[in-house]
Amino acid sequence: MKINDIRTTFLNFFKEKGHQIVPSAPIVVKNDPTLLFTNAGMNQFKDWFLGNEKPQYKRVVDTQKCLRVSGKHNDLEEVGFDTYHHTMFEMIGNWSFGDYFKKEAIEWAWELLTEVYKLPKDILYVSVFEGSAEDGLGFDQETYDLWKQFVKEDHILKGSKKDNFWEMGDTGPCGPCTEIHIDLRSEQEKQKIKGSELVNNDHPQVVEIWNNVFMEFNRKADGSLEKLPEQHVDTGMGLERLAMALQHKTSNYDTDVFQPLIEHLKKLSNLNYSFTQPNTVKALTEVEKIDIAMRVIADHVRAITFAIADGQMPSNNKAGYVIRRILRRAVRYGYSFLNFTTSNIYHLVDTLCIEMGAAFPEIIAQKEFIKNTIKEEEEAFLRTLSNGIVKLEQYCSDSQSKTVKGSVAFELFDTFGFPLDLTALIAKEKGFTLDLEGFNKAMAIQVQNSQKAAQVEKTDWIELTTVDNIEFVGYDAFKQACSIVKYRKITEKNKNYFQLVLDKTPLYAESGGQVGDNGKLIGTDNEIIEIQNTIKENNLIIHIVKHLPQNLKQKFEAQVNIERRNA
Ligand code: SER
Repeated sequence: MKINDIRTTFLNFFKEKGHQIVPSAPIVVKNDPTLLFTNAGMNQFKDWFLGNEKPQYKRVVDTQKCLRVSGKHNDLEEVGFDTYHHTMFEMIGNWSFGDYFKKEAIEWAWELLTEVYKLPKDILYVSVFEGSAEDGLGFDQETYDLWKQFVKEDHILKGSKKDNFWEMGDTGPCGPCTEIHIDLRSEQEKQKIKGSELVNNDHPQVVEIWNNVFMEFNRKADGSLEKLPEQHVDTGMGLERLAMALQHKTSNYDTDVFQPLIEHLKKLSNLNYSFTQPNTVKALTEVEKIDIAMRVIADHVRAITFAIADGQMPSNNKAGYVIRRILRRAVRYGYSFLNFTTSNIYHLVDTLCIEMGAAFPEIIAQKEFIKNTIKEEEEAFLRTLSNGIVKLEQYCSDSQSKTVKGSVAFELFDTFGFPLDLTALIAKEKGFTLDLEGFNKAMAIQVQNSQKAAQVEKTDWIELTTVDNIEFVGYDAFKQACSIVKYRKITEKNKNYFQLVLDKTPLYAESGGQVGDNGKLIGTDNEIIEIQNTIKENNLIIHIVKHLPQNLKQKFEAQVNIERRNA
């Protein structure tokens, strides 16, 4: 069964049982300060559960785009190495708002899995909430008895609060849940260890596929539980994992969710995908590295595409930074293991639109915009990567010792956005070791400094023109005709100011204990902007101003306040 049929079958099954099909909420959350991205299907229904809003429908079915890369649920570093974690995934779910409860939810879940999708009964395990003394809740006998009609008792497991009591966060709607797990191992393996022993044990082929939550409580800020006015059902099944089971695969990446993207990557890189699954104990082989890179990119391009389609551009702040990090992780894997030294990843959006555009037309509607955004980000980061590599190669050829100093690795990381593992990789290729301790020390100092500056927010630079070099002319001039190259807004302790970069400047920056210059910027329209200070960041001379000129693109004259410099 193809992924699009699996999704449609789910939606139609519940539609026939009186459920309204509703669209996925956006993956980017704009109106909840506790959440950057949608991380569960129930996010959009929170107020319906709590009784703050009257539900529009009693029964709903949908597929929800979810992203688990920040906050409570964060799987980013796992992605690519294992076979079943993702940044973005689809959660298909059915919902009852004050309507049916445990009986129907369990009967329908079993009917769908075993009679419609025709999964063999003996590879399914279910878990039931054992109770929690601290919350004053007993064993969920009702759910146990309902399962007993269909499932052998040695396939019904008891689970603790950690696995069988679902909570959205520290507060909010919650309740006991029953999970359905699937054992996809070979017969031979099953003989050796029973599936029941591997449930909830991070085995890549014994995985949870569906969670049915029985929402009955609201967790209050003091930790106590309050009964909700009505009882609800919230279920969520990982579509990619279900596809793995129905397509008889042992990795989500071998299903038709990811294989078309991997095929496209094979063409772009001229390399093969070898279906390896790394053994975490041994060092990675070259073939495994290529496979990991392809999985990382195939996964990440989905997350990035859907985030951009829902309005989240990559940037240096909050949700935008999360998206930028995901994209840079993909670029780095492509660069290191697939020889992607020019932008390539953006091409995959074409394949994604063919595969997912019917279910999510928003990606087709914005295809060119998404491709351009990814391409620009790729190019910018690839420049950074290659600058960093030139610097590192220079260092290695000049160095007397065979160690890359921690301070050098840190400068590459901090100034060039150059990831440590890539520095280590290149160092190793050149027969160098890396001073990790020195790097960690430099990092600790940086963390301390940035905690001090934690209240500072910077927007992205807005570029007005591009220049090869910023010229400092202040050794022999106090005035200079110039243009603004770029600017950004800074918010510090609720106060706003701006930073400007000029193509030529006579003002020198704070350094070595000397204060930076202040002065003026005079526009050809005679507007005067006071320059309050001049600083240097990553070798860039930056001027601090309270207000931006009305016309940013005109010519200016920058003047140094000579009294201050001579003082
Ligand atoms: N809320 C539950 C989950 O996210 C079921 O949808 O797992």
